[in-house]
Amino acid sequence: MTSAVASELLLSIESTCDETAAAVIRRDGTVLGQCIATQETLHEQFGGVVPEIAARAHLERILPVIDTALTQANVRGENLTAIAVADRPGLAGSLLVGVVAAKTLALAWNKPLISLNHLHAHLYACQLIEGAPANIYPAIGLIVSGGHTSLYVCRTAIDLEYLGGTIDDAAGEAFDKVAAMLSLPFPGGIEVAKLASEGNDKAYSFPRSMIHDPGDDFSFSGLKTAVRYAIVGPGRHDFASLNISDQVKRDVCASFEAAVVDVLVSKCRRAIKRHRNRNDASPNSINRLIVGGGVAANQRLRRDLQAAADKDGFELWIAPPHLCTDNAVMGAIAWKKFEAEQFASLDLDITPGLQRGF
Ligand code: KG4
Ligand code: ZN
Repeated sequence: MTSAVASELLLSIESTCDETAAAVIRRDGTVLGQCIATQETLHEQFGGVVPEIAARAHLERILPVIDTALTQANVRGENLTAIAVADRPGLAGSLLVGVVAAKTLALAWNKPLISLNHLHAHLYACQLIEGAPANIYPAIGLIVSGGHTSLYVCRTAIDLEYLGGTIDDAAGEAFDKVAAMLSLPFPGGIEVAKLASEGNDKAYSFPRSMIHDPGDDFSFSGLKTAVRYAIVGPGRHDFASLNISDQVKRDVCASFEAAVVDVLVSKCRRAIKRHRNRNDASPNSINRLIVGGGVAANQRLRRDLQAAADKDGFELWIAPPHLCTDNAVMGAIAWKKFEAEQFASLDLDITPGLQRGF
């Protein structure tokens, strides 16, 4: 590493949903400072992220969070090389806070601005796994988060082609809604997974929607409704007043989690099979899967994907659990855009990202 590269520092800002995060990342990938302020306690009573509350909380936290990351890294804003911010997809008010902060600092410190697709950054977290090869691309990418469940062809870190995605709920949203039905704490994914590990995954036969569909789309709303019917039957909403036994909760969670994971694994296997050609050295041949987003932290998903990779003979990289949920470290992808000289202007606007989410 040259001393020039060693001294090149990026400030990455993330505020797409309900985490306010900043990181200072050296060009060689070393993270010198990082800070995440979560908002879980603010949204808990509502059982989901409330956009207005999220935006206001970002506004209060964004500067202290950036300040903490810079202080940890022992760097002054004037000495940064560039400033990166996730400008899509996300909640409008949340995105706006990060984007306005990044634009203001870029103007004040006269630094280049880089805009990031949050989903591409989630996948790039796989590149940050210790021991990963210098380049994990090309790959098929699975994003599985609270807001998205999508498959991509990732030619490079920053050249992605959308293959398909959920036509209704994201997998993480289904986890959160099932958690709410069972009166589990928010955010629910991790709580459902905990109970699932002690339950019988065959206790309920929940639907695996679109599992036989040859395309790359997903659907999880039917599964969510099936869980609801299993718990209370149609037409009731007062879950809180239900007295569901702990064993039923564990079995519902295990059966639900199995249904989600079966669909995700099956769709990934099919996408890989379609894109690989073992006898073909052409760049169109892809035999590698990368997986990112909050639900990628799920242990059953990680286990079953690994089993599929071993069986089918494809390479698998799943983001490290601490980089699955929202963070600014995955904003290291900005160095790829820096190298490609893909800079944003100071009139960067969140509107295009709101219109086309992925
Ligand atoms: O990527 P992320 O932090 O935010 C979005 O970009 O959406 O993902 C959050 C989602 C939530 O729905 C949360 O319940 C889910 O990831 N999640 C999990 C687990 N940990 C987080 N779902 C299943 N199992 C987990 N262990
Ligand atoms: Zn995310």
